[in-house]
Amino acid sequence: MRPGAGRRVYQSSDPPSQEDWGTIARLYDLEHPACRGAELGFWHQLAGTSGGAVLELAAGSGRVAIALARKGHRVTGLERAPGMLERARARCARLPPSVAARLDWVEADMAAFDLPGRQFGLVFIAYNSFWLLDNEAGQASCLRAVARHLAPEGRFVLDVFPPNDDDRQNETGITQRLALPWQGQTVLRIKDYTYDPARRQGVSEVRYYAAEPLSDAPASRLAQFTYRLRLAEPDQVRALLEREGYAVEATYGTYRGDPLTRTSPRAIFVARRP
Ligand SMILES: C[S@@+](CC[C@H](N)C(=O)[O-])C[C@H]1O[C@@H](n2cnc3c(N)ncnc32)[C@H](O)[C@@H]1O
Repeated sequence: MRPGAGRRVYQSSDPPSQEDWGTIARLYDLEHPACRGAELGFWHQLAGTSGGAVLELAAGSGRVAIALARKGHRVTGLERAPGMLERARARCARLPPSVAARLDWVEADMAAFDLPGRQFGLVFIAYNSFWLLDNEAGQASCLRAVARHLAPEGRFVLDVFPPNDDDRQNETGITQRLALPWQGQTVLRIKDYTYDPARRQGVSEVRYYAAEPLSDAPASRLAQFTYRLRLAEPDQVRALLEREGYAVEATYGTYRGDPLTRTSPRAIFVARRP
């Protein structure tokens, strides 16, 4: 979700007319490395010390949820986009049956979900997805839904990036070349970014192209989508959590547990239920 390197704007004669979530989900998996190393260690340690089942909100195609299930945790992945869920379920079908049996998937909006009779020792939102709730009312509503599903000693963990100056400036043609090829072709991800200070919203219009980067032939557009992030400073996130009755028991600036400072790459909040 962060700007990448390079500047080259591609035009396509052949844009898909609507968001194709099946393709977007597959491109997302090319773009985002598996959850491993310090990131996986962080979630594994929390899941192991929280007791009981785990709920991941905005679980996408299962990048984190599946990695945790492989480590032995029972994980429910809640996700709104059917294309992402389809991809998650397809990935599950290729897992060893004992791992797949620890996973279940729910199609729902994280701002207003109800899983009757279910409570979790750990509920978390990884990798900036909380910002996808693009206004404060939606974010507060999500925190209330989480509180209804936390076991009495359960923990809620929120993992976002702290916004920096780049996130408050418009920029067009932000170009990244994905590390892995798509059906033998290079994939370029091109993003136009606009920031609306009144709403504290960053709007990203993303297009993916399959092309040879040095060729003049028209690139073919694979997919496009738009997402809005409603950004807040770490102090504002803490204030929102406390306003909704959470007690913040720890904050971290990295997945290794370093303190949260002005230059931290992550802003991670560990909170108890109201
Ligand atoms: C950046 S992906 C993150 C997926 C996964 N958590 C990960 O770390 O790879 C964000 C996901 O949030 C989902 N999403 C966005 N708004 C949502 C909402 N209101 N409720 C549930 N899921 C949502 C999107 O469909 C997308 O799959």
